[in-house]
Amino acid sequence: MSELEKVKNSSLIEYQKYSEWDLDFLTQYIIENHHKYVKNAIPNISNHLQKVFEAHGEKHSFIVNVQKIFFEVAEELSHHMMKEERILFPIIKYLADSQKLREKPKTRGYVTVQNPIRQMEAEHVSAGNALENIRRLTNNYTLPEDSCATFQITYKELEEFEKDLHKHVHLENNILFPKAIELEERLIKEIYD
Ligand SMILES: [Fe+2]
Repeated sequence: MSELEKVKNSSLIEYQKYSEWDLDFLTQYIIENHHKYVKNAIPNISNHLQKVFEAHGEKHSFIVNVQKIFFEVAEELSHHMMKEERILFPIIKYLADSQKLREKPKTRGYVTVQNPIRQMEAEHVSAGNALENIRRLTNNYTLPEDSCATFQITYKELEEFEKDLHKHVHLENNILFPKAIELEERLIKEIYD
């Protein structure tokens, strides 16, 4: 129980830390930590999966499906991160700047920040489902008895990839996005002199 309490408290402290950050800073943190990690991990994991497929694909036919799903989710996530970096995060920075300058934001083509956010949330669900499918196909990353070192490394990397995605999505869905929506609503209502 006390161990559980500790985990609960530490995640609460973590939550408080991120939720106190300036929204623009939080987007930079996500890019520097999570987006960069994903961009580096994709070619690495793809290479390892190819090696595992070549050595064990014939005997373990599920590997080709893991490869296919990973390839698709990698493509999806690459586009997703690009949209965040080029479209959504600049809008959030603009909202944060408007607040600092005490100006009412102009919503231009995106009407409300809620529109790109809904799209990003739907893409998070899709990526999460893909990683869950990989977990299911690999029987919770249970290594076959005849597995080699590359097999072990690949499973470790895939699990790490999933864990990182969960944290990444948590920061966006539970902290960044609701705060950006709330900020936009507040700035629109605010009366400036
Ligand atoms: Fe995202």
